[in-house]
Amino acid sequence: MNDVASPGRPRILQVGRLMPSLEAALAENFNLRPLWREADADAYLAAHGAEFTGLVTSLWGPVDAALLARLPKLRVIAHFGVGYDALDVAAIRARGIPFSNTPDVLTDCTADLAWAALLDVARGVSAAERFVRRGAWASGGKFPLQTRVSGKRLGILGLGRIGRAIARRGAGFGMRVAYHSRHPQAGADYAWHATPAALAAHSDFFVIAAAGGPQTRGLVSREVIAALPPQAYLVNIARGSVVDEAALVEALVEKRIAGAALDVFEHEPHVPEALLALDNVVLLPHIGSATRETRQAMADLTLANLQAFFRDGQLLTPVEA
Ligand code: 8YV
Repeated sequence: MNDVASPGRPRILQVGRLMPSLEAALAENFNLRPLWREADADAYLAAHGAEFTGLVTSLWGPVDAALLARLPKLRVIAHFGVGYDALDVAAIRARGIPFSNTPDVLTDCTADLAWAALLDVARGVSAAERFVRRGAWASGGKFPLQTRVSGKRLGILGLGRIGRAIARRGAGFGMRVAYHSRHPQAGADYAWHATPAALAAHSDFFVIAAAGGPQTRGLVSREVIAALPPQAYLVNIARGSVVDEAALVEALVEKRIAGAALDVFEHEPHVPEALLALDNVVLLPHIGSATRETRQAMADLTLANLQAFFRDGQLLTPVEA
């Protein structure tokens, strides 16, 4: 591709697909090679892996120890997205390779989407819209009464940047906000619960905003789901891996909780079949950060990280150990 045209520029391996505008900007600034376009990625890496000093990827392009072993000269990784659970962090750290993600720029949009999903499932917005479209209103039907949001108890699992932004919005709805994280957070004026189950038991809306990865896999276990009161709604805008999805589906099908709004799933883009038939479940295709403004800001930051690294040896938003 552009290897011959730009021999002096750092060689960057692009593992998974990225926004076309980011891919174009990266190709303008670096000697970029999109691995996903290679018919035989293994053979390509065996022949050329040692040429790459940089790597860029997203949730859709996992980086594991086997890939790293093919890249002996790799010096830096830029990840498009705040959650970097697709990266084998232990293997990357073992090699001492610095990596960046895209924090902050997507916080507001992701928190907005959490609220859109929460309001939707509680008030039946999508279900009501389906009701109108299928002609049920016009033919005399009455849409069933739904659930009040304002003034209820909002439980947030994970009070990081996005969790805090969700909490701040909760104040606008007069919610009583509580949270669980491993330790009480300095400066957080909300009730802390020591376990996810205790938080679940005190939530009308249980919003999952915890980072993905090995530490939180299955954190919202069968036991935590069982602790939710029957009137509770579960909202997940974080990662499907944080929830025992089979247990959640059972609770929804057996009507042990009021409903769920899910932007993320364990095996995306697969959505459990049983959920498709339920009107009290809002199903979204992982769109927390998916606005033009935010995705552009994520793209800009991904590019800027690589530029800063190859210019000054420093990432702008490194993920610290
Ligand atoms: C994805 C996300 O990065 O940032 C995250 O952690 O989950 C999203 O913003 C986005 O879907 C692009 O892969």
